[in-house]
Amino acid sequence: MKYQKHVFICNNQRPDPAKKSCGHEHGNALVAAFKAGIKERGLNIQIRAQQTACLDACVFGPALVIYPEAIWYGAVQLEDVNEIIESHLMQNQPVDRLRLRFNGPHLEG
Ligand code: FES
Repeated sequence: MKYQKHVFICNNQRPDPAKKSCGHEHGNALVAAFKAGIKERGLNIQIRAQQTACLDACVFGPALVIYPEAIWYGAVQLEDVNEIIESHLMQNQPVDRLRLRFNGPHLEG
């Protein structure tokens, strides 16, 4: 495995601005904040954060998913980034209050 953890952050902008999308809600800023936070801590060899297209969790966004655990987060704010990095990425303790949980094909939120 190339990376110990891989963070996929949606920054998709749906064409209809009336429909919620992560790219309209600081998705790009989240990508930048994760990249910077990981690099600042010298973790960028083991952990990669990158933008991704729609994760099909638009109404719960801004959304991201971390592998290999397949832990999803929703409504992620810029002030949550350090907590996710330090708790989940560094200590393997997911941030429960931000988690999205799947129930079959649907998210429970
Ligand atoms: S626009 Fe981000 S999950 Fe769909």
